[in-house]
Amino acid sequence: MARPKRTYRCRSCGASPTTWAGQCPACSEWATVEEVTGAEARVAALAGAGGAGGATVQALVDVGTGAVFPAPTGVDEIDRVLGGGLTPGSVSLLGGEPGVGKSTLTLQLAVSVAAQGASVLLVAGEEAPAQVAARAARLGPLPPTLAVLDDTSVPAVVAALEAVRPQVAIVDSIQMVRADEVDGPPGSVSQLKASTEALISAAKQLAVSIILVGHLTKDGSLAGPRVIEHLVDTVLTFEGDRAGQLRYLRAVKHRFGPTTEVGLFEMTGGGLAAVADPAGRFLADRQAGLAGSVVVPVLEGRRPILVEVQALAVEVPNPPGRVAVQGVDSRRLAMLSAVMVRRMGIPVNRQDVFVSCAGGAAAKEPGADLGVVLALASSMLNRPLPPDLVVCGEVGLGGELRAVPQLDLRLQEAYRLGFRSAVVPSSAGRGPTGMAVSRVATVADAVATIRFGSTPV
Ligand code: TYD
Ligand code: MG
Repeated sequence: MARPKRTYRCRSCGASPTTWAGQCPACSEWATVEEVTGAEARVAALAGAGGAGGATVQALVDVGTGAVFPAPTGVDEIDRVLGGGLTPGSVSLLGGEPGVGKSTLTLQLAVSVAAQGASVLLVAGEEAPAQVAARAARLGPLPPTLAVLDDTSVPAVVAALEAVRPQVAIVDSIQMVRADEVDGPPGSVSQLKASTEALISAAKQLAVSIILVGHLTKDGSLAGPRVIEHLVDTVLTFEGDRAGQLRYLRAVKHRFGPTTEVGLFEMTGGGLAAVADPAGRFLADRQAGLAGSVVVPVLEGRRPILVEVQALAVEVPNPPGRVAVQGVDSRRLAMLSAVMVRRMGIPVNRQDVFVSCAGGAAAKEPGADLGVVLALASSMLNRPLPPDLVVCGEVGLGGELRAVPQLDLRLQEAYRLGFRSAVVPSSAGRGPTGMAVSRVATVADAVATIRFGSTPV
């Protein structure tokens, strides 16, 4: 290993001779050359490597981590997604389609933080203060530390942040904010960038956590807020079927924590509520004994959720048939259909194929592969799978079954909800006591292992 390079400097003229010398080679003074150590030496070494040049360069080990810890918002599902809460001085973008519930969610967060005694500033761009107050009042008693600003110009917002010094500020929405020195209407790319940059610098200076609400549309044509995603610390998306009640909160970018967790909410008459038993949420209306139906424990973040995958295959006179999916990945289905044709001899390509997840759920991860294959096989045989069965496993192109993450956890949740048998890849563990777990190597083995019910009349 190379010895660390020593660095020397002349106390008199500041020169950096490469070796120690009794007389400085630059200014000829005697006994002024000395070794530099620590942070100074590291910077000098960087300069020697052509780096520093007088700029504020520091060796990374000398930079403090400035560790700041997230402050819980008190809305548990939000804190779960953020890895604890909102980091002081951070700026987050909350994106979602109009009407999905962004204002409701941020208002609930605001009321919750203010109820802890912290000061919160709402910047109302979309609704009048009286409307905001009326909405907030529906969510619970109004804490006195919850304030609203009825002005969306950047200087006014920054002045209010300086005056109030809130712990959290919510800007609803960033598309309504105006940076005076920039041309273009609010919501234009230049306006979005300029106002976001100004708010980011205010957030850092005042250690305020700012949440920017941004409207996204499904087709992406008006996807304005995307242009600020790289500027902010955290990008949250709020999704769900507007007609249905379920909402998913995800972090797609997060400088202060993981992006693996999912927050699950239900839109109720009294605002958004955490889903009480997410694992069993989608099984409420399930009818056991239907051909083409199978239950798969999928992972949403780190939580297992049991999803009913349904398939319907109808033979067509002129193949190939149509394919329609909901809640599963259509490219994945194409691959699985090819595997069924080639590895199992099941002619799904000669059918109209419909695959969907009941209740608006989604099963887009590879762990749902086996479920899709078995639901299709069950539909084509017109024979139901056992009602207490769950299946889970990724399917490879050779028809082989592959391991999936957190299988034990998934099977435990399935057991808790009354499922007593499982078909999983051969590499899996034994599963919960009391559950009959069949470990199989291929999809063909899976079909051979399962005792299908009799054909319904
Ligand atoms: P909103 O938060 O205004 O959506 P966004 O800010 O994303 O545009 O809320 C959207 C819908 O939610 C609205 O159509 C009414 C409904 N809603 C409820 O069902 N219950 C409630 O308690 C609230 C506040 C809203
Ligand atoms: Mg809104």
